[in-house]
Amino acid sequence: MSEKITLNNRTTTDGKGFPEKAQLILGEKSMELPVVVGTENEPAVDISKLRAQTGYITLDDGYSNTGSCKSAITFIDGEKGVLRYRGVPIEELAEKSTFIETAMLLIFGGLPTQPHLAEFRRILTDNEFLHEDLRHHFEGFPPNAPPMAILSAMINAMGCFQQKWLLPEEDNHFMEAAGRLMSKVRTIAAASYKKSIGQPWIYPRYDLPYVANFLHMMFSQPYRPYEPDPAVVKALDQILILHADHEQNCSTSTVRMVGSSQANLYASVAAGVCALWGPLHGGANVAVIEMLEQIHASGEKVENVIAKVKDKDSKTRLMGFGHRVYKNFDPRAKILKAACDKVLNKLGIHDPLLDIAKQLEETALRDEYFVSRKLYPNVDFYSGIILRAIGIPANMFTVIFSIGRIPGWIANWREVHADPEARIYRPRQVYVGPTQRPYVPMEQRNR
Ligand code: ACO
Repeated sequence: MSEKITLNNRTTTDGKGFPEKAQLILGEKSMELPVVVGTENEPAVDISKLRAQTGYITLDDGYSNTGSCKSAITFIDGEKGVLRYRGVPIEELAEKSTFIETAMLLIFGGLPTQPHLAEFRRILTDNEFLHEDLRHHFEGFPPNAPPMAILSAMINAMGCFQQKWLLPEEDNHFMEAAGRLMSKVRTIAAASYKKSIGQPWIYPRYDLPYVANFLHMMFSQPYRPYEPDPAVVKALDQILILHADHEQNCSTSTVRMVGSSQANLYASVAAGVCALWGPLHGGANVAVIEMLEQIHASGEKVENVIAKVKDKDSKTRLMGFGHRVYKNFDPRAKILKAACDKVLNKLGIHDPLLDIAKQLEETALRDEYFVSRKLYPNVDFYSGIILRAIGIPANMFTVIFSIGRIPGWIANWREVHADPEARIYRPRQVYVGPTQRPYVPMEQRNR
């Protein structure tokens, strides 16, 4: 049976130049599939009736060609290196906005007015402490517990303490729940760090804004307050802005998937933290620093490293390089490279790892292997060097990423819940296991 898919060439009435329908021919059968075009002219073939009408499903391992939802939150054009939150370019936000304002843009759909911002700040301040019983949870973790495991467990546990906020369907409760989560995540993150180094945890300070307060909880000691350099606060604020959302990546899709079962905000975000933990996703910034440290310690030539990562038998990759969506450059990496130079200069730090990173980038971008595969530095390539300069240890890098990504997860969870037509996410599969066979009693089994 011959099977082919053809897109016909009719244009839409508004002249965008897309066909109205795609025609799918499956042997003798044919079916018209509607073409959906997003506000940034991204065309998609709507296959939602495909199985019902033909018995076929589509197969897209890793989902590279699958739109799992319509979303109005973040737009990425991977070919052009474009990233916009609710329409606002990431470059403008990194330069002019703050993390809290950007979080509100993502969560509530627009930049806040002064009173709206003040109200959200009040919620953040009112919720920066942890319930004493929640605090005692920390005692159950061993000192070397991975901070991402603590973060995920504690976010889930938060749900037990705030059950009335579990399904914040209406706007007032939603704002309160979003602010609580953003605020407490920062306290949990700092407390998990303090636990890991055996220091008493530091209470938040109501007079400090979000990022400065986090740095205070991370680095102050009961007898020695920490006063962050404004350049450090700005750099961390920028890192959080750049990580705040990235459309349907692994962790955000996880949050939407879990949320689609009507699971509450805390449970859904806790699952997102686990997804982010992996080294191919949020864990890559740790892997980058480990790779740079190893190159520095061994004195290995950059050319050798590049040769190794090109060799498939070596099973190593150039960490912080490549991206599923960006095939030209990652706009976040560009901003972070400049921020890296700026903050290290301001703090008077010369980090040999930055020199190695720049040499790796230069060498890779001249190499046919990387050019032909469209592999460029991603957001993780330079962020770790900034975090190191701030004094944040590598095992906390992915936690910082999580703090940044919380607004995106909240916005996506909300979008799933606010959609009156939302259904539980339930992909299908093409089964390739054994066909029917009988149950074999124990005594008749070989082995
Ligand atoms: N180093 C060397 N080769 C690479 C790299 C890399 N970092 N990334 C991809 N390639 C090669 C692959 O080996 C493959 O080569 P082939 O076509 O000869 O087989 C080709 O480029 C395509 O790679 P895929 O794995 O198919 O690309 P995919 O889109 O699935 O993966 C990913 C993207 C996971 C980011 C990948 O580039 C990677 O592993 N990078 C290193 C880890 C990393 O930095 N992750 C952070 C991503 S950003 C984030 O999550 C915030």
